[in-house]
Amino acid sequence: MEMFRRTFAEINLDNLTHNIRVLQKAFPQRFLCPMVKANAYGHGDVKLALHLEKLGIENLGVCLIEEGLLLRKNGVKANILVFRGFDKEGAKAIINNDMTAVVSSWDQIEALEQVADDKVRVHVKFDTGMNRLGFRVEEAQKVFDRLNNHAKIEVKALCTHLYIGENANELDQTSAHQLQKLNKVSEIFKSMNVFCHALNSSGILNLMQMQQDGVKDSTHPLMLQNWGVRPGLMIYGYSSLGRPDVGDLKPVMTLKSVVNTYRQVKTGETVSYGAKWTAQRESVIAVVSIGYGDGYHRLLSNQTHVLFAGQRAPITGTVCMDYLMIDVTDIVAGKDLNSFKDKEVTLFGWDPEGHLLSADEIAKKAHSISYEMLTGVGERVPRVYVGKGI
Ligand SMILES: Cc1ncc(COP(=O)(O)O)c(C=O)c1O
Repeated sequence: MEMFRRTFAEINLDNLTHNIRVLQKAFPQRFLCPMVKANAYGHGDVKLALHLEKLGIENLGVCLIEEGLLLRKNGVKANILVFRGFDKEGAKAIINNDMTAVVSSWDQIEALEQVADDKVRVHVKFDTGMNRLGFRVEEAQKVFDRLNNHAKIEVKALCTHLYIGENANELDQTSAHQLQKLNKVSEIFKSMNVFCHALNSSGILNLMQMQQDGVKDSTHPLMLQNWGVRPGLMIYGYSSLGRPDVGDLKPVMTLKSVVNTYRQVKTGETVSYGAKWTAQRESVIAVVSIGYGDGYHRLLSNQTHVLFAGQRAPITGTVCMDYLMIDVTDIVAGKDLNSFKDKEVTLFGWDPEGHLLSADEIAKKAHSISYEMLTGVGERVPRVYVGKGI
Protein backbone atom coordinates (compact mmCIF):
# COMPACT_ATOMS: atom_id res chain seq x y z
CA MET A 1 0.00 0.00 0.00
CA GLU A 2 1.37 3.43 -0.92
CA MET A 3 1.45 5.79 2.04
CA PHE A 4 2.81 9.30 1.50
CA ARG A 5 1.49 10.54 4.84
CA ARG A 6 2.38 8.36 7.80
CA THR A 7 -1.03 8.60 9.41
CA PHE A 8 -2.47 5.14 10.00
CA ALA A 9 -4.24 2.84 12.40
CA GLU A 10 -1.94 0.06 13.50
CA ILE A 11 -3.92 -3.08 14.24
CA ASN A 12 -2.09 -5.49 16.51
CA LEU A 13 -3.37 -8.98 15.75
CA ASP A 14 -1.41 -10.47 18.64
CA ASN A 15 -3.46 -8.33 21.01
CA LEU A 16 -6.65 -9.48 19.30
CA THR A 17 -5.47 -13.07 19.72
CA HIS A 18 -4.81 -12.41 23.40
CA ASN A 19 -8.31 -10.98 23.96
CA ILE A 20 -9.94 -13.91 22.16
CA ARG A 21 -7.91 -16.41 24.19
CA VAL A 22 -9.15 -14.70 27.37
CA LEU A 23 -12.71 -15.38 26.22
CA GLN A 24 -12.08 -18.91 24.99
CA LYS A 25 -10.46 -19.76 28.31
CA ALA A 26 -13.30 -18.27 30.36
CA PHE A 27 -16.06 -19.83 28.24
CA PRO A 28 -14.74 -23.00 26.60
CA GLN A 29 -18.16 -24.58 26.06
CA ARG A 30 -20.28 -21.62 25.10
CA PHE A 31 -21.66 -20.18 21.90
CA LEU A 32 -19.15 -17.44 21.15
CA CYS A 33 -19.94 -14.88 18.48
CA PRO A 34 -17.50 -11.96 18.21
CA MET A 35 -19.15 -8.90 16.67
CA VAL A 36 -17.36 -7.65 13.56
CA LYS A 37 -20.03 -5.20 12.47
CA ALA A 38 -19.13 -1.62 11.53
CA ASN A 39 -15.90 -2.71 9.88
CA ALA A 40 -14.97 -4.68 13.01
CA TYR A 41 -15.41 -1.55 15.15
CA GLY A 42 -13.12 0.28 12.73
CA HIS A 43 -10.34 -2.33 12.72
CA GLY A 44 -11.03 -3.79 9.24
CA ASP A 45 -13.62 -6.54 9.12
CA VAL A 46 -12.20 -8.82 6.42
CA LYS A 47 -8.72 -9.06 7.92
CA LEU A 48 -10.07 -9.50 11.42
CA ALA A 49 -12.67 -12.08 10.46
CA LEU A 50 -10.04 -14.15 8.66
CA HIS A 51 -7.76 -13.91 11.68
CA LEU A 52 -10.60 -14.84 14.05
CA GLU A 53 -11.28 -17.93 11.97
CA LYS A 54 -7.65 -18.97 12.40
CA LEU A 55 -8.20 -18.71 16.16
CA GLY A 56 -11.03 -21.22 15.92
CA ILE A 57 -13.93 -18.76 15.94
CA GLU A 58 -16.98 -20.35 14.30
CA ASN A 59 -19.55 -17.54 14.52
CA LEU A 60 -19.31 -13.88 13.60
CA GLY A 61 -21.90 -11.15 14.09
CA VAL A 62 -22.66 -8.35 11.66
CA CYS A 63 -25.41 -5.79 11.51
CA LEU A 64 -25.88 -5.41 7.76
CA ILE A 65 -26.36 -8.02 5.07
CA GLU A 66 -23.82 -5.99 3.08
CA GLU A 67 -21.24 -6.56 5.82
CA GLY A 68 -21.84 -10.30 5.69
CA LEU A 69 -21.60 -10.36 1.90
CA LEU A 70 -18.24 -8.59 2.01
CA LEU A 71 -16.93 -11.24 4.40
CA ARG A 72 -18.23 -14.06 2.22
CA LYS A 73 -16.74 -12.52 -0.94
CA ASN A 74 -13.38 -12.43 0.81
CA GLY A 75 -13.43 -16.06 1.75
CA VAL A 76 -14.79 -16.01 5.30
CA LYS A 77 -16.36 -19.42 5.95
CA ALA A 78 -17.62 -18.95 9.52
CA ASN A 79 -21.30 -18.85 10.35
CA ILE A 80 -22.35 -15.21 9.90
CA LEU A 81 -25.24 -13.92 12.00
CA VAL A 82 -27.05 -10.94 10.47
CA PHE A 83 -28.65 -8.89 13.23
CA ARG A 84 -30.43 -6.20 11.25
CA GLY A 85 -33.85 -6.86 9.77
CA PHE A 86 -34.44 -7.75 6.13
CA ASP A 87 -37.09 -7.85 3.44
CA LYS A 88 -37.65 -10.49 0.73
CA GLU A 89 -34.56 -9.45 -1.22
CA GLY A 90 -32.50 -9.43 1.94
CA ALA A 91 -33.80 -12.87 2.89
CA LYS A 92 -32.68 -14.16 -0.52
CA ALA A 93 -29.19 -12.70 -0.05
CA ILE A 94 -28.93 -14.21 3.43
CA ILE A 95 -29.99 -17.66 2.25
CA ASN A 96 -27.95 -17.65 -0.98
CA ASN A 97 -24.83 -16.73 0.93
CA ASP A 98 -25.35 -19.23 3.69
CA MET A 99 -25.72 -16.67 6.47
CA THR A 100 -27.96 -16.92 9.52
CA ALA A 101 -30.84 -14.50 9.88
CA VAL A 102 -31.65 -13.14 13.31
CA VAL A 103 -35.43 -12.87 12.99
CA SER A 104 -37.04 -10.01 14.86
CA SER A 105 -40.49 -9.53 13.34
CA TRP A 106 -43.45 -11.22 11.68
CA ASP A 107 -42.69 -9.76 8.25
CA GLN A 108 -39.22 -11.27 8.42
CA ILE A 109 -40.79 -14.69 8.99
CA GLU A 110 -43.00 -14.04 5.95
CA ALA A 111 -40.03 -12.93 3.84
CA LEU A 112 -38.20 -16.16 4.67
CA GLU A 113 -41.28 -18.24 3.96
CA GLN A 114 -41.61 -16.65 0.55
CA VAL A 115 -38.04 -17.21 -0.60
CA ALA A 116 -36.81 -20.34 1.17
CA ASP A 117 -36.65 -23.55 -0.87
CA ASP A 118 -35.05 -25.74 1.75
CA LYS A 119 -35.07 -25.42 5.50
CA VAL A 120 -33.33 -22.29 6.78
CA ARG A 121 -31.85 -22.08 10.24
CA VAL A 122 -32.59 -18.90 12.17
CA HIS A 123 -32.06 -17.30 15.53
CA VAL A 124 -35.05 -15.46 16.99
CA LYS A 125 -34.64 -12.20 18.83
CA PHE A 126 -36.81 -11.07 21.73
CA ASP A 127 -37.10 -7.54 22.98
CA THR A 128 -36.73 -7.83 26.73
CA GLY A 129 -36.62 -4.10 27.41
CA MET A 130 -34.36 -2.23 25.03
CA ASN A 131 -37.28 -1.39 22.75
CA ARG A 132 -35.24 -1.55 19.59
CA LEU A 133 -35.51 -4.92 17.83
CA GLY A 134 -37.17 -8.24 18.51
CA PHE A 135 -40.53 -9.83 19.22
CA ARG A 136 -42.18 -8.73 22.39
CA VAL A 137 -41.87 -11.27 25.17
CA GLU A 138 -45.67 -11.52 25.39
CA GLU A 139 -45.68 -12.80 21.81
CA ALA A 140 -43.40 -15.72 22.61
CA GLN A 141 -46.10 -18.41 22.55
CA LYS A 142 -47.48 -17.09 19.26
CA VAL A 143 -43.99 -17.07 17.73
CA PHE A 144 -43.43 -20.61 18.95
CA ASP A 145 -46.76 -21.80 17.50
CA ARG A 146 -45.96 -20.20 14.16
CA LEU A 147 -42.48 -21.70 13.90
CA ASN A 148 -43.02 -25.06 15.56
CA ASN A 149 -42.69 -27.90 13.03
CA HIS A 150 -42.36 -25.29 10.31
CA ALA A 151 -41.66 -26.73 6.87
CA LYS A 152 -39.09 -24.09 5.97
CA ILE A 153 -37.76 -22.50 9.16
CA GLU A 154 -35.77 -24.16 11.92
CA VAL A 155 -35.11 -22.19 15.10
CA LYS A 156 -31.62 -22.86 16.44
CA ALA A 157 -31.35 -20.17 19.10
CA LEU A 158 -33.05 -17.33 20.91
CA CYS A 159 -31.42 -14.07 21.81
CA THR A 160 -31.80 -10.66 23.35
CA HIS A 161 -29.60 -7.64 23.91
CA LEU A 162 -28.73 -6.04 27.26
CA TYR A 163 -29.20 -2.29 27.39
CA ILE A 164 -27.37 -1.64 30.67
CA GLY A 165 -25.02 -4.62 30.74
CA GLU A 166 -22.95 -2.83 33.37
CA ASN A 167 -25.50 -3.84 36.02
CA ALA A 168 -25.62 -7.52 35.02
CA ASN A 169 -23.87 -8.58 38.24
CA GLU A 170 -26.79 -7.28 40.31
CA LEU A 171 -29.81 -9.36 41.26
CA ASP A 172 -32.61 -6.89 40.72
CA GLN A 173 -31.56 -4.56 37.93
CA THR A 174 -32.50 -4.20 34.25
CA SER A 175 -30.10 -6.90 32.99
CA ALA A 176 -31.34 -9.42 35.57
CA HIS A 177 -34.92 -8.74 34.49
CA GLN A 178 -33.99 -9.10 30.82
CA LEU A 179 -32.23 -12.41 31.36
CA GLN A 180 -35.09 -13.73 33.47
CA LYS A 181 -37.50 -12.82 30.68
CA LEU A 182 -35.43 -14.60 28.02
CA ASN A 183 -35.12 -17.58 30.32
CA LYS A 184 -38.92 -17.79 30.53
CA VAL A 185 -39.21 -17.50 26.76
CA SER A 186 -36.70 -20.33 26.37
CA GLU A 187 -38.96 -22.58 28.44
CA ILE A 188 -41.69 -22.08 25.85
CA PHE A 189 -39.22 -23.08 23.10
CA LYS A 190 -37.77 -25.99 25.07
CA SER A 191 -39.03 -28.71 22.73
CA MET A 192 -37.07 -27.07 19.89
CA ASN A 193 -33.83 -27.69 21.74
CA VAL A 194 -32.68 -24.11 21.38
CA PHE A 195 -29.84 -22.35 23.16
CA CYS A 196 -29.80 -18.66 24.12
CA HIS A 197 -27.28 -15.88 23.62
CA ALA A 198 -27.54 -12.60 25.40
CA LEU A 199 -24.29 -11.23 26.77
CA ASN A 200 -22.41 -8.27 25.32
CA SER A 201 -19.04 -7.15 26.67
CA SER A 202 -20.48 -5.64 29.86
CA GLY A 203 -22.48 -8.76 30.63
CA ILE A 204 -19.49 -10.97 29.84
CA LEU A 205 -17.06 -8.95 31.97
CA ASN A 206 -19.51 -9.00 34.88
CA LEU A 207 -19.78 -12.76 34.56
CA MET A 208 -16.00 -13.13 34.37
CA GLN A 209 -15.68 -11.04 37.52
CA MET A 210 -18.15 -13.33 39.28
CA GLN A 211 -16.23 -16.40 38.04
CA GLN A 212 -13.01 -14.86 39.36
CA ASP A 213 -14.70 -14.24 42.71
CA GLY A 214 -15.78 -17.88 42.82
CA VAL A 215 -19.52 -17.10 42.80
CA LYS A 216 -21.50 -20.27 42.04
CA ASP A 217 -25.14 -19.25 42.34
CA SER A 218 -27.30 -20.96 39.72
CA THR A 219 -30.19 -18.67 40.64
CA HIS A 220 -28.23 -15.59 39.68
CA PRO A 221 -29.64 -14.31 36.36
CA LEU A 222 -26.17 -14.40 34.79
CA MET A 223 -25.91 -18.07 35.73
CA LEU A 224 -29.45 -19.25 34.96
CA GLN A 225 -28.17 -20.75 31.71
CA ASN A 226 -24.90 -20.98 29.84
CA TRP A 227 -25.80 -17.78 28.05
CA GLY A 228 -24.03 -17.53 24.71
CA VAL A 229 -21.72 -14.54 24.44
CA ARG A 230 -21.49 -11.84 21.75
CA PRO A 231 -18.45 -9.77 22.61
CA GLY A 232 -17.82 -6.61 20.66
CA LEU A 233 -15.78 -3.92 22.35
CA MET A 234 -13.84 -6.27 24.60
CA ILE A 235 -12.24 -8.20 21.75
CA TYR A 236 -10.83 -4.87 20.60
CA GLY A 237 -9.23 -4.48 24.00
CA TYR A 238 -11.50 -2.11 25.91
CA SER A 239 -13.63 -2.75 28.95
CA SER A 240 -17.15 -1.42 28.57
CA LEU A 241 -17.36 -1.70 32.37
CA GLY A 242 -14.65 0.90 32.71
CA ARG A 243 -12.77 -1.78 34.72
CA PRO A 244 -9.41 -2.38 33.00
CA ASP A 245 -8.60 -4.84 35.85
CA VAL A 246 -11.26 -7.33 34.72
CA GLY A 247 -10.33 -9.50 31.77
CA ASP A 248 -6.76 -8.33 31.20
CA LEU A 249 -7.63 -6.94 27.77
CA LYS A 250 -5.14 -5.39 25.37
CA PRO A 251 -6.18 -2.56 23.05
CA VAL A 252 -5.79 -3.65 19.44
CA MET A 253 -5.80 -0.33 17.59
CA THR A 254 -3.20 2.42 17.81
CA LEU A 255 -3.97 5.59 15.89
CA LYS A 256 -0.71 7.12 14.72
CA SER A 257 0.35 10.18 12.85
CA VAL A 258 3.46 12.17 12.22
CA VAL A 259 4.71 15.71 12.77
CA ASN A 260 4.46 17.67 9.55
CA THR A 261 6.31 20.78 10.72
CA TYR A 262 7.24 22.82 13.81
CA ARG A 263 6.35 26.47 14.46
CA GLN A 264 8.05 28.81 16.88
CA VAL A 265 5.18 30.84 18.36
CA LYS A 266 5.66 34.08 20.27
CA THR A 267 3.88 34.99 23.50
CA GLY A 268 0.41 36.35 22.67
CA GLU A 269 0.17 34.69 19.25
CA THR A 270 -2.71 32.29 18.61
CA VAL A 271 -2.84 28.87 16.99
CA SER A 272 -5.44 27.43 14.54
CA TYR A 273 -8.94 28.45 13.43
CA GLY A 274 -10.89 30.81 15.62
CA ALA A 275 -7.83 31.73 17.70
CA LYS A 276 -8.96 29.48 20.54
CA TRP A 277 -5.46 29.04 21.98
CA THR A 278 -3.05 31.80 22.85
CA ALA A 279 0.61 31.25 23.69
CA GLN A 280 1.34 32.31 27.28
CA ARG A 281 5.07 31.99 26.59
CA GLU A 282 7.44 31.41 23.67
CA SER A 283 6.23 28.01 22.47
CA VAL A 284 7.17 25.24 20.09
CA ILE A 285 4.10 23.95 18.31
CA ALA A 286 4.14 20.72 16.29
CA VAL A 287 1.72 20.44 13.38
CA VAL A 288 0.43 16.86 13.25
CA SER A 289 -0.96 15.30 10.05
CA ILE A 290 -4.37 14.19 11.24
CA GLY A 291 -7.68 15.96 11.71
CA TYR A 292 -11.42 15.54 11.85
CA GLY A 293 -11.33 14.48 8.18
CA ASP A 294 -9.67 11.34 9.51
CA GLY A 295 -12.26 10.87 12.23
CA TYR A 296 -10.35 12.57 15.03
CA HIS A 297 -13.07 14.48 16.90
CA ARG A 298 -13.13 18.26 16.61
CA LEU A 299 -14.63 18.25 20.11
CA LEU A 300 -11.11 17.38 21.30
CA SER A 301 -9.89 20.87 20.39
CA ASN A 302 -7.95 22.20 23.39
CA GLN A 303 -9.27 19.26 25.42
CA THR A 304 -6.77 16.44 25.44
CA HIS A 305 -3.24 15.37 24.67
CA VAL A 306 -1.34 12.98 22.43
CA LEU A 307 1.81 10.95 23.06
CA PHE A 308 4.95 12.51 21.61
CA ALA A 309 8.46 11.27 22.35
CA GLY A 310 7.13 9.18 25.24
CA GLN A 311 5.35 12.13 26.86
CA ARG A 312 1.95 13.76 26.86
CA ALA A 313 1.66 16.84 24.67
CA PRO A 314 -1.55 18.93 24.82
CA ILE A 315 -3.59 19.81 21.75
CA THR A 316 -3.46 23.56 21.15
CA GLY A 317 -6.49 25.18 19.59
CA THR A 318 -9.03 23.88 17.13
CA VAL A 319 -8.62 20.49 15.44
CA CYS A 320 -8.62 21.16 11.66
CA MET A 321 -9.81 18.83 8.90
CA ASP A 322 -6.29 17.61 8.04
CA TYR A 323 -4.13 18.77 10.94
CA LEU A 324 -4.02 19.38 14.64
CA MET A 325 -1.43 21.27 16.62
CA ILE A 326 0.26 20.26 19.86
CA ASP A 327 2.44 22.09 22.36
CA VAL A 328 5.82 20.36 22.63
CA THR A 329 7.72 23.25 24.22
CA ASP A 330 8.78 21.40 27.37
CA ILE A 331 9.51 18.14 25.58
CA VAL A 332 11.93 19.61 23.03
CA ALA A 333 13.46 22.20 25.38
CA GLY A 334 17.27 22.22 25.17
CA LYS A 335 17.30 19.67 22.34
CA ASP A 336 17.97 19.97 18.64
CA LEU A 337 14.58 20.24 16.93
CA ASN A 338 16.03 18.43 13.92
CA SER A 339 16.21 15.28 16.00
CA PHE A 340 12.37 15.43 16.20
CA LYS A 341 11.90 15.65 12.45
CA ASP A 342 9.05 13.42 11.18
CA LYS A 343 8.42 12.34 14.77
CA GLU A 344 5.66 9.78 15.29
CA VAL A 345 2.64 10.90 17.31
CA THR A 346 0.19 8.54 19.05
CA LEU A 347 -3.40 9.78 19.16
CA PHE A 348 -4.53 6.77 21.16
CA GLY A 349 -3.20 3.28 21.75
CA TRP A 350 0.42 2.32 22.37
CA ASP A 351 3.40 4.58 21.75
CA PRO A 352 6.76 3.12 20.67
CA GLU A 353 7.92 3.23 24.31
CA GLY A 354 4.98 1.00 25.33
CA HIS A 355 2.89 3.68 27.10
CA LEU A 356 -0.85 3.31 26.59
CA LEU A 357 -3.09 6.27 25.88
CA SER A 358 -6.52 4.74 26.20
CA ALA A 359 -9.26 5.51 23.68
CA ASP A 360 -11.57 5.57 26.72
CA GLU A 361 -9.69 8.48 28.21
CA ILE A 362 -9.74 10.45 24.96
CA ALA A 363 -13.39 9.59 24.36
CA LYS A 364 -14.43 11.08 27.71
CA LYS A 365 -12.90 14.40 26.70
CA ALA A 366 -15.07 14.36 23.59
CA HIS A 367 -18.17 13.44 25.65
CA SER A 368 -18.16 10.13 23.85
CA ILE A 369 -17.23 6.48 24.32
CA SER A 370 -14.38 4.29 23.10
CA TYR A 371 -16.80 2.58 20.68
CA GLU A 372 -17.19 5.85 18.79
CA MET A 373 -13.47 6.66 18.84
CA LEU A 374 -12.69 3.30 17.23
CA THR A 375 -15.52 3.13 14.70
CA GLY A 376 -15.01 6.80 13.86
CA VAL A 377 -11.51 6.39 12.43
CA GLY A 378 -12.03 7.48 8.84
CA GLU A 379 -11.76 5.61 5.59
CA ARG A 380 -8.76 7.62 4.44
CA VAL A 381 -6.72 6.27 7.36
CA PRO A 382 -5.00 3.07 6.19
CA ARG A 383 -5.15 0.08 8.53
CA VAL A 384 -1.74 -1.51 8.95
CA TYR A 385 -1.70 -5.00 10.45
CA VAL A 386 1.09 -6.21 12.69
CA GLY A 387 1.58 -9.41 14.66
CA LYS A 388 2.18 -13.08 14.19
CA GLY A 389 -0.97 -13.56 12.11
CA ILE A 390 0.70 -11.54 9.32
C1 LIG B 1 -26.90 -7.36 19.00
C2 LIG B 1 -25.56 -7.02 19.56
N1 LIG B 1 -24.86 -7.95 20.24
C3 LIG B 1 -23.64 -7.69 20.76
C4 LIG B 1 -23.06 -6.45 20.65
C5 LIG B 1 -21.71 -6.21 21.25
O1 LIG B 1 -21.75 -5.21 22.22
P1 LIG B 1 -20.40 -4.78 22.96
O2 LIG B 1 -19.56 -4.09 21.94
O3 LIG B 1 -20.85 -3.85 24.03
O4 LIG B 1 -19.78 -6.02 23.46
C6 LIG B 1 -23.76 -5.44 19.96
C7 LIG B 1 -23.18 -4.11 19.84
O5 LIG B 1 -23.77 -3.10 19.96
C8 LIG B 1 -25.03 -5.73 19.39
O6 LIG B 1 -25.72 -4.81 18.73
